[in-house]
Amino acid sequence: MRVAFIQTDPEFGRVRANVAGVLGHIEKVDADLIVLPELFSTGYQFKSRAEAMRLAERSDGYTVGALTGAARKKNAFIVAGFAERTDKRVYNSSFITGPGGLVGVYRKAHLFGDEKGIFTAGSGPYRVFDIGPARVGVMICFDWIMPEVARTLALKGADIIAHPSNLVLPYCPAAMITRSVENRVFTVTCNRVGTEERVRGARLEFIGTSQVVSPRGEVLARAGRRGESVSVVEIDPVEARDKRVTPANDLFRDRRPRLYDLEP
Ligand code: ACM
Repeated sequence: MRVAFIQTDPEFGRVRANVAGVLGHIEKVDADLIVLPELFSTGYQFKSRAEAMRLAERSDGYTVGALTGAARKKNAFIVAGFAERTDKRVYNSSFITGPGGLVGVYRKAHLFGDEKGIFTAGSGPYRVFDIGPARVGVMICFDWIMPEVARTLALKGADIIAHPSNLVLPYCPAAMITRSVENRVFTVTCNRVGTEERVRGARLEFIGTSQVVSPRGEVLARAGRRGESVSVVEIDPVEARDKRVTPANDLFRDRRPRLYDLEP
């Protein structure tokens, strides 16, 4: 199975141009699963909830339709971040679409910084999508800082975690190696590059560094901090189904959930 990320540099508010740019990249990519950044079609730094509402789309809207067309043409699955609106709310969402149409939508549950004033947080539950050669879990950017998210997806059977991102803090690329190792899953983090300063004094510089990590923590591909970048990696998703760390240690069977006492 081939997995890919397409690291892009979206221009704020230019949905049609951003989608067209991505379609141009997809045309040249030969992969079974393609991951795009968080909010790839709109850009990131909304000034207000009302502005986000104006640029957001429904899950049967233009962006999902265009990417579903590409998925059909390339016989591939695509995971991509978009601003999703309903009648009254706007979510920071990612959709997974494929040759047969839209597979599902995940609404970001752990909002980062000013996102809390813009988006409604998703209320789950986390879901894993079976796309044939692999089972794919979806999380978005800052979800990485809650180890429970990747753990939940892995416990629900994810072989691959698709992770659309707009990272600005430096920690995530290293942390995702741990998320891969502690859950024995492949992770595909697709970040954006470039800068935005739509709110004066709140300049954001996105760190690129998109990557694919194996269940053993090997970085199979990593993009630079600047510039658009496409990587395709051949993986065997079945590797993620063997949770043994040593002959005596199975990552899931060795868990002691009763000792963790996590409920509030
Ligand atoms: C982030 O969650 N976009 C940092």
